[in-house]
Amino acid sequence: MDTPATSANPPRSRVAALLSSETPVPDTLVKGWIRTLRDHKDFAFIEVNDGSCLANLQVVAPSGMPGFSQAVTLGTGAAVVIRGELAASPGKGQRWELQAKEIVLAGSCPEDYPLQKKRHSDEFLRGIAHLRVRTNKYGAMFRIRSSLAQAVHAFFQARGFHWIHTPILTASDCEGAGEMFRVTLGRQNGEEFFGRKTHLTVSGQLALEMFALALGDVYTFGPTFRAENSNTSRHASEFWMVEPESAFADIEDNMRLAGDFLRHLVVHAMDRCAEDLSLFANFVDTGLMARLENIATKGPVRVSYTEAILILQKSGVAFEYPPAWGKDLQTAHERYLAEEVFQGPVIVHDYPAGVKAFYMRMNADEKTVAAMDMLVPGVGEIIGGSQREERFHVLRQRLVSMGLSEEEYGWYLDSRRYGSAPHSGFGLGFERLLMLVTGAGNIRDVIPYPRTPGSIDF
Ligand code: 4AD
Ligand code: MG
Repeated sequence: MDTPATSANPPRSRVAALLSSETPVPDTLVKGWIRTLRDHKDFAFIEVNDGSCLANLQVVAPSGMPGFSQAVTLGTGAAVVIRGELAASPGKGQRWELQAKEIVLAGSCPEDYPLQKKRHSDEFLRGIAHLRVRTNKYGAMFRIRSSLAQAVHAFFQARGFHWIHTPILTASDCEGAGEMFRVTLGRQNGEEFFGRKTHLTVSGQLALEMFALALGDVYTFGPTFRAENSNTSRHASEFWMVEPESAFADIEDNMRLAGDFLRHLVVHAMDRCAEDLSLFANFVDTGLMARLENIATKGPVRVSYTEAILILQKSGVAFEYPPAWGKDLQTAHERYLAEEVFQGPVIVHDYPAGVKAFYMRMNADEKTVAAMDMLVPGVGEIIGGSQREERFHVLRQRLVSMGLSEEEYGWYLDSRRYGSAPHSGFGLGFERLLMLVTGAGNIRDVIPYPRTPGSIDF
């Protein structure tokens, strides 16, 4: 809560700590930014926010105070250091206020500050991603993001999973789908820096599997890159993915882990981010808390891909892409299942082999693989995972039949040569989790600096 005092001043206090104080504080120092200032001649009301929480601290500055005449000229956005006394507030709406004794300007904020107005559209704010975090909504968003990242680690650490730092630069293509960014030298001399073609990772999974087959339960959590040219509200070119991988775990274990994980994250947000979430529940999505409550109390429903296709075909809905066995589910199908049919999270399992990656375990029917996707309302797919093909010959056959090079995947096949074991894992898109938890409708609004096709600010 406090930073050490460097002068005669008391240590700096965070607004969050002051607002939850049980007692008055005779002498305290607050450092933050002015949100509003109202000058009433004999005194001024200043709302100060220091980023520690959604709420502002109400500061009452008497006109005789050092720095007063300068303070009342300050506008929204100015950075200030205020010394004063935390006292019970006689006014309505807050328990505490800071009765200022001195205000020192740290950085002024002229009239052309783009956030002078109170309300701005998300589109406008996307154009100033470097400033939007100064608004209530984006401050709340990025505090929730930070807290949920901690919750990811807490979940896995409590279950004995080891955190593995899988590489970002890679010479293999996890999904075999070729939607990767190439990494090259700026100068074009035809040489590869690493002696071979290198890309930004699309998933840490293959590297992670090797660690699961030694450390048992592992996870990776970091930036992921996809060069797919899909300019949608749910795709980013750079996003964060959480990927657990467990040895001696089958698809059943995997689905259970995915359900427990999602619930843990939602419960964490409701318990630990209540104030910030209230902003989204009040101003972004009035159905938010009911939806989160529903996820927190019920586990995901399960349905096989084959059943899901039948449900979609019988729905009578005229989908743009008619659902058909053997074709991948479209976002419209996924959202229909999660929003209309099951009205909550649903895990679709056992997809046709043809629509899924080479590493997924072939089922006994030799038509479907042990894949599972979790779909949620408002977002669609939030988790994708599978039991992995652990049988050497089956995997090699699959690789070759999908046109992948046995040589290039030699290291991966090694894991099936030496002490292979059944294992499973999944990937959760961290931004899609934030969309679910906050009700934000666009992935660009849940990541600090969005990167999407044709758009990178700096
Ligand atoms: O379903 P995906 O492609 O699965 C994998 O990458 C597996 N290798 C994961 C694993 O089994 N370890 O991606 C996993 C999740 C998706 O469900 C989605 O939530 C998110 O990552 N995702 C994206 N999020 C934002 N922008 C994109 N372009 C995304 N692509 C995938
Ligand atoms: Mg997927």
